[in-house]
Amino acid sequence: MLKRPSPEAFWSDEAPRHGFKLIDRNLDEGKDWDRALRIGREVMETTVEKTGMQVGSDTSVLEIGCGIGRLVFALAERAKEVVGVDVSPWYIEQARQKNPYDHVRFEVIDGRGLSLQTPSTFDVVFSHCVFVFLDVEDIAQYARDAFRLLRPGGQFIFELESMPKTRLSPAASIVRRGLYAAGVKQWRNWPTDPRFRRRIHEFEPLVRRLLSVGFYFERIAEQAGHTWYVARKPAEEQSPRISPRLAASGSAEPATADAR
Ligand SMILES: C[S@@+](CC[C@H](N)C(=O)[O-])C[C@H]1O[C@@H](n2cnc3c(N)ncnc32)[C@H](O)[C@@H]1O
Repeated sequence: MLKRPSPEAFWSDEAPRHGFKLIDRNLDEGKDWDRALRIGREVMETTVEKTGMQVGSDTSVLEIGCGIGRLVFALAERAKEVVGVDVSPWYIEQARQKNPYDHVRFEVIDGRGLSLQTPSTFDVVFSHCVFVFLDVEDIAQYARDAFRLLRPGGQFIFELESMPKTRLSPAASIVRRGLYAAGVKQWRNWPTDPRFRRRIHEFEPLVRRLLSVGFYFERIAEQAGHTWYVARKPAEEQSPRISPRLAASGSAEPATADAR
């Protein structure tokens, strides 16, 4: 059987080489915590405002792919409990060293789902700048796990880059691979490693996946090149709500493409 390529291995292997720059291109390779935390607070403020994320002093929040924890720390003052999980042991180690809070914790995961064994605990499960690197099957697995971990009525909120399709360029992909083979690790400020791949996900197949897991879909929120998907686990008395347009729209096959 063919072994599946392991994009998550890129993050666990390469995080120390690229440092904070892989978390956000506005940061550099070093550990500029002041800048990272400031940008993290700004990102989180806009996110809460745009998505309607319900976070308050009695809520528990889980972030998938938390990196160095800049968004987890931004939520720490607002929430009762915040958990950050990530595939990179190096990022998690940075976050743990920086963590001054008792109600905040960080865990390393294998990148293929959530191993936490605490069903119906979280009010919000969210992810920022992570699902763009995942294929639709891995996103669906995270959606199933989020559903299990959310309390009834809890929110599943994630962000995807909304890139124009013109960014799909086989030529750029070939250039990157050539550079990587020649030992050049960065091009145009991005890693050339073939395991570093961004993908474009189509809206409808993704939403159909969310519905098939049991979520109902609340809305999308646009934010300068980013699209937030907001879904909710039905409260006990509700059944999943399917929008008539999506229910009527044919095949459930995902349409996902690589963006290089
Ligand atoms: C661009 S960074 C964003 C970090 C954080 N969400 C933020 O906005 O500050 C992407 C993060 O996703 C993590 N990651 C990549 N693939 C993952 C996977 N399959 N499961 C969980 N985390 C993953 C990386 O290790 C990295 O920390």
